[in-house]
Parts: sequence; structure tokens; C-alpha cells
Amino acid sequence: MFAHIEAFPGDPILSLNEDFQRDPRTDKVNLSIGIYFDDEGRLPVMQAVAKAEAALLADMGPRPYLPMSGLVAYRNAVQALVFGENSPARAAGRIATLQTLGGSGALRVGADFLKRYYPQAQVWISDPSWENHRVVFERAGFTVNTYPYYDDATGGLKFDAMMDALRTIPAGSIVLLHACCHNPTGVDLNQDQWRQLIALLKANQLLPFVDMAYQGFGAGLEDDAFAIRELVAQDVPCLVANSFSKNFSLYGERCGGLSVFCNTAGEATNVLGQLTGAVRANYSNPPTHGARVVSKVLTTPELRQLWEEELAQMCGRIARMREAIHHNLRDHVSGEALSRYLTQRGMFTYTGLTADQAERLREQHGVYLLRSGRMCVAGLNERNVGIVAKAIGSVLKG
Ligand code: LMR
Repeated sequence: MFAHIEAFPGDPILSLNEDFQRDPRTDKVNLSIGIYFDDEGRLPVMQAVAKAEAALLADMGPRPYLPMSGLVAYRNAVQALVFGENSPARAAGRIATLQTLGGSGALRVGADFLKRYYPQAQVWISDPSWENHRVVFERAGFTVNTYPYYDDATGGLKFDAMMDALRTIPAGSIVLLHACCHNPTGVDLNQDQWRQLIALLKANQLLPFVDMAYQGFGAGLEDDAFAIRELVAQDVPCLVANSFSKNFSLYGERCGGLSVFCNTAGEATNVLGQLTGAVRANYSNPPTHGARVVSKVLTTPELRQLWEEELAQMCGRIARMREAIHHNLRDHVSGEALSRYLTQRGMFTYTGLTADQAERLREQHGVYLLRSGRMCVAGLNERNVGIVAKAIGSVLKG
């Protein structure tokens, strides 16, 4: 019955992370998956999360099914964080927000919804993009194309080429954008570029689907959401997937949200209804625990303040690690190939190392990077940064 099922080739990120777990070497270093580790190399439990969990445990109560669309308090908290506490669009009821199974769940529910209502549309993702973007949209039945994004020569953005390409695609196309801390390159649009891009999306009737998995890791919680605020300001209907995996260090709880900014409150009601139907057809309704924790932290002033402080500390540590790897690599790399460790932002740096070099780093030195050359700088610490730099130096020598 299953003889024709071919072997799963593995996932470029999650399977490599599993290889890392199995690697018996004690001096191995995991810079592959997008996870924040602390200076001891541990996955942190944020104090704000622990305090919220303690409070919830004291008052756990029964656990009925959540509504198909998720916990109301959580959905409201998502909307306030993503669109702004005082967003007029929120007040006008123009945003449909759904609790989802992480950011990936939001992308998939959104993709299924779009395929149903825009069956002829094609999807455009940045070149390069997070590997799973292509997978999610192709599995939902879309043809996925790329638009120019990363400039290997400068380690920066090919803004003009990106705009030129997007100018030529048909109205109704879906354009996947990263709100901040672009994955995998760490290269973002500045605010002026966002304004120009959004004006183009509007003029050419393109449909933006914004992925915001790293809110708070770039320029701060508010500024990282600039693209979304600007889409609303320019009145451009859009979808937004957001995730609390990284900024709450709650990876396994699968806390995400899907929001759709609509032209009217009536449209938002219908969109929410159809998204809810898609959830029922997939997994019926989302789980309780993570949503209760996140909404408690976001809506309790002292926990919220603590969370923001802890998030700022995480960003501060990443910035110090960027300085440290930059300093340690100066004997091996120069020019832009070195400065990109400081200029690219968020959790990732696109090192420019080839797949072959990444492979040798893993095999010979136990240092895990993605084959694309993406390095998760949030996996560096005071103890491993020198080892990593030396390993890179050795691989570059050939
Ligand atoms: C990553 O990019 O490494 C993370 O978002 C984890 C994942 O699911 O790929």
C-alpha cells in the first residue's frame, strides 16, 4: 500500500537541527536554527513568562475547547501589538485576527484562504527567503516566484531591482514580505523604501502578505511593525502573520496570529468567518496554554514591562555577539564580508559562505550553519565565538 512513498529528503533547517542534537561532539556549536540562546548556550525561560505561568497555575480552572478563532484576549493582544494599541483600523473593526499555530500556521491558513479566493494568483517571495515560505505556498497549490532582494556584492538590498520586478507582475499577485529582521539575510528596507514599496503595491493592486516572526529583534517593538502601520496608513488591504516563538522564547507552544486588514468591518467579519472555517477543517481549534500566557503578559502592565526589558536584554546580547564575531573574524575576513556582521540585523547574518564551506564547518569543526550560509548569531556566546571564528578562518583557507 505504501511501497510507492518516497523518502522525505528532510528540511534544510529542522532536519539539520536534529542532526545537531544527534552529533556526539561536546564542543559542537548550533548556529543553524533561528533560536535565541543565552550566554550559557541555554534556551531561556523568560521571567515574565514564568510569572504569568505561576499566576495561571494558581487559577488553572477547566480547559474547554477554545473558540475556533482562538482566545479572545489573545487575539486582541495580537492586534494591539501588531497594528498599534490605538490603531483607528482596530477601532473601526477592519482587522480580522485569528490565533494560529505559530507563524507557520498563520502562513498556511492564510495561504489556503487565498488559494480559495484567488485561485489564479501567483506568489512572489524574496530571493532568498525563509526556506519554508516556498514550501507552505506550494503545498497550498500556488506557483511561487522570486523577486530580487539580496545583493551578494554589497551584503545589502537590491531595492531598485526589487521595485522594477514588482512593477511588472500582474495585479492580484501575492507578495510575501518580511516586516523586519529578514530571514535569512538580516537585510531590511528602511522606512523610506517601505513607503515607496507600499505605494507601488497599492498602485498596482498587489496583495501583501507580511511575515513578522522577529518583532522586537530589530529596531524595537513599534518600529519593527512600521511596514504594517504604513500599509494601514496607505489603506492597502493585507495579511499579516506574526509569531511569539522568538520574542517570548515559547517555540514549542506554537503561539502565532493571522490578521487580515480589510476595507470595511463587514468584510473583516466575513474574512474572519472563512478563516475560522479553515481552522475547523484543519485542526478544529487552537490550544490554550501558550495563548493564555502571552495574553496575560501583554495585558498585565508589570509583566509587560518585564517582558519588554528581557527582550531588550536579548537584543543587547545579540548586538554584543555581532561585535564579538566581527572582532574575532578580522584576521580572516575583510571589507564588506566582515562589516555585514554589524550591518545586518536581527538573529541572522548571511555570511557568504558556500554550501561546501558550511558542510566543512559542520563536518570538520562541529559548527552548524545552514547550507545557504545563514548564521544564527543568537547562538553565539563568549565561549564559542572564538572557536567559530577560527573554524571559519580555517575553512576559508581551503
Ligand atoms: C528558522 O528560520 O530557523 C526558524 O524560523 C525555525 C524554522 O521553523 O525554520
